[in-house]
Amino acid sequence: MGRVVVTGKVPKPALDILRRAGHEVVAWEREEQQSRAQLLEQVSGADALVTLLTEQVDAELLDAAGEQLKVVANVAVGYNNVDVEACRSRGVVATNTPGVLTDATADLAMALILMTTRRLGEGERVIRSQTPWQWGMFYLLGSGLQRKTLGVVGLGSIGAATARRARAFGMNIIYSSRSAAPRELTSELGAHRVDLDTLLAESDVVSLHCPYSPATHHLLSASEFAAMKSSAYLINTARGPVVDEAALVEALKGGQIAGAGLDVFEDEPQVHPGLLDCENAVLLPHLGSATIETRTAMATLAADNAVSVLAGEDPPTPIG
Ligand code: DGY
Repeated sequence: MGRVVVTGKVPKPALDILRRAGHEVVAWEREEQQSRAQLLEQVSGADALVTLLTEQVDAELLDAAGEQLKVVANVAVGYNNVDVEACRSRGVVATNTPGVLTDATADLAMALILMTTRRLGEGERVIRSQTPWQWGMFYLLGSGLQRKTLGVVGLGSIGAATARRARAFGMNIIYSSRSAAPRELTSELGAHRVDLDTLLAESDVVSLHCPYSPATHHLLSASEFAAMKSSAYLINTARGPVVDEAALVEALKGGQIAGAGLDVFEDEPQVHPGLLDCENAVLLPHLGSATIETRTAMATLAADNAVSVLAGEDPPTPIG
């Protein structure tokens, strides 16, 4: 029997799992995020924290929880908001939610590929703004995907699922990754591994699927955009700071690349004002995993992780 603090609003089935396991559950029930001061107060005395990606789980938060804290169960696959070393040094197990959001995120990446290459955001804005229009042979022409090359940066499960979708649209796949993907996967996708420079030079669409860390901070900046084809598109459903947003604005405005589809931003929920002026950018408010089924699966997996650690068992999906 432990005290589980759920720091943001999560689907009820996750709370049911925690309660059924006999734990006292203290859950934030409102849609809007609580303030940092409220959060520091809420976590005091917790044996387990179930956290959202919008919260910084750092030394200050862990210390505010107290020495009895055993587990931080982050409701996200990305865990750049969690100071994993600070957890480890305090003997706190950290977990994330891989697997359950793969399809939803890959669906969204594919949607962004179609939206940017076919200029669907621009078309929708024409109708909504009641701008006069008529069918024309050259009106709002986009680019087709057949026989084009998708460059996947990070061929993990979401990158692979996006590549599978792109294959169904007739695209060829290349990828760059820290290590080579399993042969079975690369032969299924017909994908071959190249270095990032080659990927940028050869891709018609570059899709980011790497985790965010100091090593991937501004992985794409001015020189990388200069290396891309002027007809190429950038898709980011990973983490905002992987892209240097100021440099991206310059590249979009200067015609160095043809367009960008972004679901994540450097300083979320702020969006670089320059991006708002770019007709060739499709901008979404971090919706990658936003389906009822996926968010429920993420939250229940996090709850399972917390329950396992509190029962003295290995959690299903530990970080690292
Ligand atoms: C994650 O889980 O890291 C996603 O960004 C959530 O949408």
